[in-house]
Amino acid sequence: MHISWHGHSCFIFETFSKHKLIIDPFIKENPLSDLDINQINVDYIVVTHAHNDHFGDTIELAKKTNASVISTVEICQFLNQFDIDTIGMNIGGQAQFPFGSLKLTPAFHSSSLNYDGKTIELGLASGIILDDGYKKIYHAGDTALFSDMSLIAPVDCALLPIGDHFTMGIEDAVKAVELIKPKKVIPMHYNTFDLIKQNPYQFAEKVKNNIVYIPKIGELIKI
Ligand code: NI
Ligand code: MN
Repeated sequence: MHISWHGHSCFIFETFSKHKLIIDPFIKENPLSDLDINQINVDYIVVTHAHNDHFGDTIELAKKTNASVISTVEICQFLNQFDIDTIGMNIGGQAQFPFGSLKLTPAFHSSSLNYDGKTIELGLASGIILDDGYKKIYHAGDTALFSDMSLIAPVDCALLPIGDHFTMGIEDAVKAVELIKPKKVIPMHYNTFDLIKQNPYQFAEKVKNNIVYIPKIGELIKI
């Protein structure tokens, strides 16, 4: 599997089957993003929760690409008014897709959307586990540290927030790595805004066995 990081919690996964998925497409308002919404070609859009720094440009991107949106049932129900193809799931559920399997995991977080001047509550926040038949990746979404992360172990790669303030910070993310036992860890959800300023190299130093990889924006990483 090939993955690339596009700032904040936005990743593009290209699976063994050559399907492309974008996770948390926060693009236009994301100061770290290298993506041009008119040039993105994806088969699926996965949204971990409704906060605008994750839901981001889902509506526009789904319209432009005809990609199906995979998310919680509440977010999918909200999207249905825009005539977007959705696959609603819920926490703990796994489903089979042409690219492999995808499961929604718990995330200790909230999930509201600011839309049209209103705040809309859209169910629970989630993380995702994607397994393309060869590699298993855990994208934690936004979450606090919780001990049941140990049930997710082991994975080939874990994408973990380290920004603090709204999610785990470095200290808790180090503990999360011990629970998840990934072969590789990529930090996310940091340095996008002042409130989540962190030094990812400090995180890398604290995690045992040298398994943290800090990619450049847009760099292609082979998992
Ligand atoms: Ni959030
Ligand atoms: Mn967030």
